[in-house]
Amino acid sequence: MGSVAEIAPDIYRVTVFVPEFNLEFHHFLVKDDEPLLFHTGFRRTFAEVREGIASVIDPARIRWIGFSHFESDECGALNEWLAVARHAEPVCGLLGAMVTVNDFSSRPARILTENDVLPTGRRRFRFQHTPHLPHGWDAGVLYEETERTLFCSDLLLQTGKCEPVTRDDVIGRARETLAGLEAGPFAGVTPYTAHTGVMLNKLADLKPSLLITQHGSAYAGDGEKALRALDGVYREILGKPAAAGSAR
Ligand SMILES: [Fe+2]
Ligand SMILES: [Fe+2]
Repeated sequence: MGSVAEIAPDIYRVTVFVPEFNLEFHHFLVKDDEPLLFHTGFRRTFAEVREGIASVIDPARIRWIGFSHFESDECGALNEWLAVARHAEPVCGLLGAMVTVNDFSSRPARILTENDVLPTGRRRFRFQHTPHLPHGWDAGVLYEETERTLFCSDLLLQTGKCEPVTRDDVIGRARETLAGLEAGPFAGVTPYTAHTGVMLNKLADLKPSLLITQHGSAYAGDGEKALRALDGVYREILGKPAAAGSAR
């Protein structure tokens, strides 16, 4: 079973650590009148994640299944979850639904466009479209505005085994991870474009107090400052002009 931690009131994290990647993969359950699962995880880890979720609620109660972009760790097990949770619907951006999800998924998606809100009971999830941030044309993130919590997918990615929540220097860790990735097969994880800083600053303007990343510790603190600092890190590491002859 994946390890389970309640990282904020009624927000549970089910974690599977994959040693080959030295990376934690988190799957978040938000317990509310209409429970939401954010990140289904890979098909191959479905049983582990389902067991973890089942230790909190009956998985059949899940109503919404969200994710940032179409990638196996984000939504690979979508159809397995839809089979278990018969009343659940995927929830994603318009582009994601049009280009992949409504073809892949066994049930059509509830589509959100910029600033649309998905209420789940006492919580309200506001959709932010963030094309190519962290990656993928279809990328978006969900901001839970009653608790100022940003579910930010691969932003703030940290390798290794991390504590569930940190108040420490998460940008330093994210920077170290990014620099390490650039030296290996995962180089270019996020394309740094003319839009990247604009989108990070748009997310910073939400002034989140909890940043929930899919890989590593969630960050509790000044989320606005952290996201603006992350733009600086991305620009420094990912925004360098490619060397002549580089494949990237
Ligand atoms: Fe990703
Ligand atoms: Fe990821």
